[in-house]
Amino acid sequence: MSTRIPLPYGPKVLELFRNPKNMGRMEDATVVAVTGSLACGDMIAIYLKIDEEAQVIKKATFESYGCAANIAAASIMTEMIKGKTLKEAWNISWRDISEELGGLPSIKYHCGVLAVGALRRAIRSYFENKSKPDWLPEELTHEEKHALEEEKLVEMIEKRMKRKTN
Ligand code: FES
Repeated sequence: MSTRIPLPYGPKVLELFRNPKNMGRMEDATVVAVTGSLACGDMIAIYLKIDEEAQVIKKATFESYGCAANIAAASIMTEMIKGKTLKEAWNISWRDISEELGGLPSIKYHCGVLAVGALRRAIRSYFENKSKPDWLPEELTHEEKHALEEEKLVEMIEKRMKRKTN
């Protein structure tokens, strides 16, 4: 008999988990960010196709190796940012996403934060060799810090494992 207690996911989260929108790799993406959460070790990739002149997101897709909440959050987020300017997309918070999903269980907040962090990292890397707009903060936001770059995540997890085995 299983002792696992199912999480109280709402119907929208479950629906998007079963039938996620915009899931998959984008071959002609303008920018990609692959990030992972230190809270759980799960990873997510965000792909953006950007209309460079208008600074508008034409298409967004994702790949998630995370939980149901992360898949649902990334799915709805990619829907929400389609047609938005980079600035508007930057300002979407994990709370907006959670609201749009009809709420996330509190122990799953970090899964929404990971989705937003990945999006922000993608937007930030888009401006890496360009002149930065004034709405882009110099400092990494909390969400970006939570969403570590792939190499950094692997490094941190290795360190943790070493600590445990020493
Ligand atoms: Fe890792 Fe949700 S538990 S992304």
